[in-house]
Amino acid sequence: LTLPPCDFTVFGGTGDLALRKLLPGLYEQERRGQLPAGTRIIGVSRSPLDDARYRDLVSQALFDHVAEDHLEAGALHRLMTRVHHLTLDAGSAEGWDALHGLLKRDGEEVVRVYYLAVASDLFGPICDRLDDLGLVTPQCRVVLEKPIGSDLASSRRVNDAVGHVFEERQVFRIDHYLGKESVQNLLVTRFANVFLEPIWNSRWVDHVQITVSETVGVGGRGEYYDKAGALRDMVQNHLLQLLCLVAMEPPTHVGGAVGTAEDAVRDEKLKVLRALVPLTGPDVDRATVRGQYSSYGEELGHPSTTETFVALRAEVQNWRWAGVPFYLRTGKRLGRKESTIDVAFKEPPHAMFPDSEGVSTPNRLTIRMQPDEGMQLHLTAKHPGPGGIRLHPASLGLTYADTFDERSPEPYERLLMDVMRGIPTLFMRRDEVEAAWGWIEPVLERWQDTAVEPVRYHPGTAGPAAADRLLAREGRAWHGSE
Ligand code: BG6
Repeated sequence: LTLPPCDFTVFGGTGDLALRKLLPGLYEQERRGQLPAGTRIIGVSRSPLDDARYRDLVSQALFDHVAEDHLEAGALHRLMTRVHHLTLDAGSAEGWDALHGLLKRDGEEVVRVYYLAVASDLFGPICDRLDDLGLVTPQCRVVLEKPIGSDLASSRRVNDAVGHVFEERQVFRIDHYLGKESVQNLLVTRFANVFLEPIWNSRWVDHVQITVSETVGVGGRGEYYDKAGALRDMVQNHLLQLLCLVAMEPPTHVGGAVGTAEDAVRDEKLKVLRALVPLTGPDVDRATVRGQYSSYGEELGHPSTTETFVALRAEVQNWRWAGVPFYLRTGKRLGRKESTIDVAFKEPPHAMFPDSEGVSTPNRLTIRMQPDEGMQLHLTAKHPGPGGIRLHPASLGLTYADTFDERSPEPYERLLMDVMRGIPTLFMRRDEVEAAWGWIEPVLERWQDTAVEPVRYHPGTAGPAAADRLLAREGRAWHGSE
């Protein structure tokens, strides 16, 4: 498939995301020869940089963030010849003519991608300016970084402003979790195998746990993070998307280009979001835990009541999942960097091994998204030896590292390629984003109304004990990674 050249314009071109993720992602594509011929990468920022100085900045970022054995002089050189910088303050009227001059390529078929790696209140104004300059055509695409707004009303405003200029099919809302190999593999595990689907329901599943645990703190992102907090930063998007992929019905198919039935997956995810039992009022107090690591205020430079940890209990009210708890938790400065999904199955209906009375080893499927991508099916085996039958926990494991020679691409590599190819399946549709905000918002409101302070937890631990109690109350516990 030969793709037309792409003018890939990144607003926020000197920002953390551009330098740590986007440029390295584009570099990997360059290395594999996947960037369409004639493609240019235009970093837009307020910094007064010319092309040469921006290229220096980008080179440094690549040295810092690309795996050493992937750094190849030829590919680096080829990428650099594509890179340009344009100084522009997205909030002011100046500098846009220069962008127009750069992007107008007469007579050539060019796909223009506008990547908005800036605060979402600038999305509307940027789209308007691009439109005024005649830089928006049906071949253009716009990529929106999260968070899109900070609640339902503001996300609607942002989506309206973008939707005023771009059609929904041109809008690519990034959730980089959907670009992770292990997350896509979840779809394959569920739907390219037959043995799971018959037991993937409330009849056989006891509960589901989704954990995204990070060891990093907020670092230099305090200004953004302190306004957002873990619920907006991680749960509204990444964790709910994971929940959707676990809980959704089989889509008719996966993949496809714009204009085909690529929406099958997104339709199914949306149904899950809409089936989430609303958490409102006092239910929020029972079903959620807010935490903050004890050194957060110090790191930030001022005291704060923003949460850096959330645990919550959700339910999907439909035929398949009625009554099955979905426990979600995520936090910063925890003991481990680890993202897992655990599907815990029920006990066998009848205990028939007398020597193992009281031994409980229910089956569980652990999907490890990172690190060490893979999965483990926890089973029960007979402990070897004469005499009675003693039950023993055992497991079947699959690791990507042992199974495949290829390394898993970084999520942004995959997603940026999808943007250039125009494949929106792994991006969030407007209705999904808004449904997710709609579910999250009453939780935020309740926390605000009751002025609930986050419980402190020590850095390096598994988070506040209240998160353990959330499950212990129902006779369950969080699973560690095995
Ligand atoms: C981002 C959040 O979306 O995801 C960050 O804004 C978080 O706060 C990051 O650290 C986690 O991503 P990953 O891929 O490292 O799990």
